[in-house]
Amino acid sequence: MAGDYDLVVVANRLPVDRVTEADGTTAWRRSPGGLVTALEPVMQREDGAWVGWAGSPGDPPEPFDAEGVRCVPIGLSETEVEEYYEGFSNGTLWPLYHDVIVAPDYHRRWWESYVRVNRRFAERAAEQAAERATVWVQDYQLQLVPQMLRELRPDLHIGFFNHIPFPPFEIFAQLPWRAAIIDGLLGADLVGFQRAADAANFTRACRRAKGLPARSGRIRLDAEGGREVRAASFPISIDFRALSDLAQTEGVKARAAEIRRDLGDPQFVLLGIDRLDYTKGIPHRLKAFEELLADEKVQASEAALVQVATPSRERVEQYVQLRQDVEVIVGRINGTHSTIAHRAVHYLHHSYDKEEMAALFLAADVMLVTALRDGMNLVAKEYVAARHDERGVLVLSEFTGAADEFGQALLVNPHDIDGLKETVVRALRMSPREAGRRMRALRRRVQEHDVQRWATTFLQALEEHAGTRGIESVD
Ligand code: F6P
Repeated sequence: MAGDYDLVVVANRLPVDRVTEADGTTAWRRSPGGLVTALEPVMQREDGAWVGWAGSPGDPPEPFDAEGVRCVPIGLSETEVEEYYEGFSNGTLWPLYHDVIVAPDYHRRWWESYVRVNRRFAERAAEQAAERATVWVQDYQLQLVPQMLRELRPDLHIGFFNHIPFPPFEIFAQLPWRAAIIDGLLGADLVGFQRAADAANFTRACRRAKGLPARSGRIRLDAEGGREVRAASFPISIDFRALSDLAQTEGVKARAAEIRRDLGDPQFVLLGIDRLDYTKGIPHRLKAFEELLADEKVQASEAALVQVATPSRERVEQYVQLRQDVEVIVGRINGTHSTIAHRAVHYLHHSYDKEEMAALFLAADVMLVTALRDGMNLVAKEYVAARHDERGVLVLSEFTGAADEFGQALLVNPHDIDGLKETVVRALRMSPREAGRRMRALRRRVQEHDVQRWATTFLQALEEHAGTRGIESVD
């Protein structure tokens, strides 16, 4: 049975999370992560529905409107949160797709839960979508949804976008369920990735894992009458205008000045903002900073590093370990290099609202993005959008999707601690003229390639491709 919406987004999370306050009442809070940052402004302009999990276990609430978006919640039981979300999504796929930075766990129970939950998302999306609607499925948690949806509703135009990297086949091949994942994704008309390299990895996986004829981003399915699936890159972005404007408000500018004052007016403010995730290279940047202080290449009294680490996946073992590791390093740096008057590292295990983030970006002379692997890294784009004053220097890992677009950032290999240290020093000493020239080029790039353009380009490509597959035959 068809629903009312011409555009349905399906993502693991809704744009808001249901949280229980200290007094026992429930409230809604913005969900973490880049996916919500990117899709929320797109959906606010569309009259579509967003199908997703409300962020805590239990029965789903009734559909509701939040932040200008129609939200259709999916319920997950406590066991499903453990097996589908923390388990298969974030204990198996997340590390596998991020270059096995930590070892993935393979459990058949987790996989069965993943299949069951993906089916629930597919069924809910099928109920919401109008006749011949477009359904846009998001990210690695829902890779089986495209195929399940196609079985339920062959009239739909189905797009899939992977927000994280797609690994080389030699790594992907470890997955016991690799063929089923490929089948799931090939239910889509268009499969989108962040980088051209991700799309090429996927096309190759279709050849190697399934023996399918696949080249130049076109995969032919002879078993389905020669239906062709397209795979291509669509680098995601942010709402440049909204953040640039927000950073120019008097309130945000005053708050940025206040942050610098509260830090003791150091000569240099360095900033890291990440989900507390082992892919982000937080220990690497702390180590580089620690060594710079120890070598006195940077004087402890003249620099402060602010590290915002947003809590994430707090019950997954590797995240518990990472938090301990980061807190030990921060403690050690502060024990050695802080004084009563000045703290070397300000470590904040919190999430902040958009205004505070914009103020932090404006207050920072150098932004450190040292991810070991990252699909895109929207924080890098946010920093650039906030710097309407054309100041500030971005140090950016070459292992982020953003590095493909940001030739004017200072690119680093975060594993090379000496190289990272040299780059940080270069950033701190860069002339305002050079910094301005680089920042202007970076801003131009994000301004011209904002999130609206990303969404429009993807959806147009989907319509063009799906429109040619002769859906008339289902009437
Ligand atoms: O694409 C990265 C991503 O996994 C999104 O799918 C997700 O919304 C975000 O990071 C935050 O992760 P989580 O939903 O597990 O807190």
